[in-house]
Amino acid sequence: MKLGVCYYPEHWPREMWADDARRMVELGLSWVRIGEFAWSRIEPEPGRFDWAWLDEAVETLGAAGLKLVMGTPTATPPKWLIDAHPDILAWDVEGRPRRFGSRRHYSFSSETYGRQSARIVEALAARYGDHPAIGAWQTDNEYGCHDTTLDYSPNAQTAFRRWLAARYGTVEAMNAAWGAVFWSQDYPSFEAVDLPNLTVTEPHPGLHLDFRRFASDEVARFNRIQTDILRARSPGRDITHNFMGFTTSFDHGEVAKDLDLSSWDSYPLGFLESFWFSEAEKRRYLRQGHPDVAAFHHDLYRGVGRGRFWVMEQQPGPVNWAHYNPAPLPGMVRTWSWEALAHGAETVSYFRWRQAPFAQEQMHAGLNRPDNILDRGGEEAAEVAREIARLGPLPSAAKAKVALVFSYEADWRIAIQPHGAAFRHLEIVFETYGALRRLGLDVDMVSPADDLAGYALVVAPCLPYLETPFLIRLAATGARVLFGPRAGSRDVSGKIPAELPPGPLQARLKLKVARVESLRPGVETAVRLGETTFQARLWREDLETRLPARATYANGEPAWVEDEGWSYLGFWPEADLLDRILTDLAREAGLETTPLAEGVRLRRRGDLTFAFNFAPEPRAAPAPAQATFVLGDAVLPPGGLAAWRA
Ligand code: GAL
Repeated sequence: MKLGVCYYPEHWPREMWADDARRMVELGLSWVRIGEFAWSRIEPEPGRFDWAWLDEAVETLGAAGLKLVMGTPTATPPKWLIDAHPDILAWDVEGRPRRFGSRRHYSFSSETYGRQSARIVEALAARYGDHPAIGAWQTDNEYGCHDTTLDYSPNAQTAFRRWLAARYGTVEAMNAAWGAVFWSQDYPSFEAVDLPNLTVTEPHPGLHLDFRRFASDEVARFNRIQTDILRARSPGRDITHNFMGFTTSFDHGEVAKDLDLSSWDSYPLGFLESFWFSEAEKRRYLRQGHPDVAAFHHDLYRGVGRGRFWVMEQQPGPVNWAHYNPAPLPGMVRTWSWEALAHGAETVSYFRWRQAPFAQEQMHAGLNRPDNILDRGGEEAAEVAREIARLGPLPSAAKAKVALVFSYEADWRIAIQPHGAAFRHLEIVFETYGALRRLGLDVDMVSPADDLAGYALVVAPCLPYLETPFLIRLAATGARVLFGPRAGSRDVSGKIPAELPPGPLQARLKLKVARVESLRPGVETAVRLGETTFQARLWREDLETRLPARATYANGEPAWVEDEGWSYLGFWPEADLLDRILTDLAREAGLETTPLAEGVRLRRRGDLTFAFNFAPEPRAAPAPAQATFVLGDAVLPPGGLAAWRA
């Protein structure tokens, strides 16, 4: 368990570097990430490299005893490069080139940019690849952030046509797979296919789905250009990329196949403010962040990284980029750090060392204030470093007993045809995650392609496409399984399966979805479970089946059916009902649950149990009477934590 920090030597006079490095080490930091936006200073003019400053920065930081993560600077192609090659720019959905003047303004499909990226990464790797201070590499910065995965440029159009030709072989096969006969959308050739923007009404869902898959593949392909070079030139160093939160526009697992570990950028207050949470939640968790947001991503990216992940950027104080940017509660930076470590993070690295007094992020806190006085976040990082040293090595975070299935492609499929505007894959999975975590359960997030052996309960709340191999592997686990509505409702190309939903799941659960409806927010429909009436929201299906019903609609028809440990929900449940369903299934799966007080969450690492309190009031730590506390005590302060051995 290590701590680190993001540092921008190019932002500060050289005279400060040695002192900064010394203070980083004094604070207890081991890693420093540099370089990821520094292209204009590394190569100020085409072909003229200025290594002197970066050499000195690397030497200075290394000499102080820090290990470096070197970032490749491809998120910020400099002005001279864009002026020389405007075809590097990505185009937005309205068909306009995006402009120079911030960052991430490039097209993943630009062949020019592919060559330029290779060139700058080659140069960096040749210079620093075997430098003893370089411990790891980060490719680019936050793929997809600022809505940059989907590109509607001529580059993308050309590359998409090629991608379709490789996928389908003949245009007839493509037309048939999509059902392009509809509205006379048959294409005479791959060269005739346009991108799915600027159409009069919604584009063909078959074309749209393939465009999303293509765009995702382009991110992985672009990343691979860099990892191939780094592997060859800098052997023995970990390669990572810093993923963003709530970003589903590309398949992170595909990118991670070329990485040694995944990392992500954790801004709990920025995420609470910027995403779908209710006004009440935004107020209640204002300074602590939503209880499930950081943990959801830790678990997601641990899975994406095949067990290995870092937090590359940890919020250190107020950020600048949300609608409103409150300050975290005192102690919160420490709590977020421990939360990441409890979930298995190898390193937590803070963004950034010192608040910059200029440019877009001048109102973003750092560990130090712009006047170089250690800020609250810095003090809390130092406290975490002392605690890590005191505790010594911790047992590793074991595999959880519960797997929650998350699929990027499912997210695109639902986004393309939501049917109900409020029905969103990410939110459905997140709600399910929260319900499991409120029961005190540790959760692994898995993709349908992952190894599922060893789980006692597998929850797949929203998987519109089911592949038979996945179902076979699932059956082999002997786990209890819950499918949410819309499971198996589409074939590989996005069409309704001939046997009707849930498609191939019918081999295991004898049911057909005869009819579906989406429900607007506020419209509910009764579901009866035992003696209690709950409500379904967002979605409701009529199920044709003889299977026994665990819950029924008001008309007595089956709403939740089960056969030999596998069950299917024909609706989306309100929160209380979801809690109830998962409580019952966890019990039947032989799992011990601990229903937690509002705002409290648990996470285990071996014999250590961590408890985190995201409520703005103190809470009792749900620890047994004989517990030995190693962090905190029996009262969790607002935004506080405790850890104990039972
Ligand atoms: C991240 C990004 C950093 C910085 C930070 C501010 O998304 O990777 O470069 O912009 O946000 O919170």
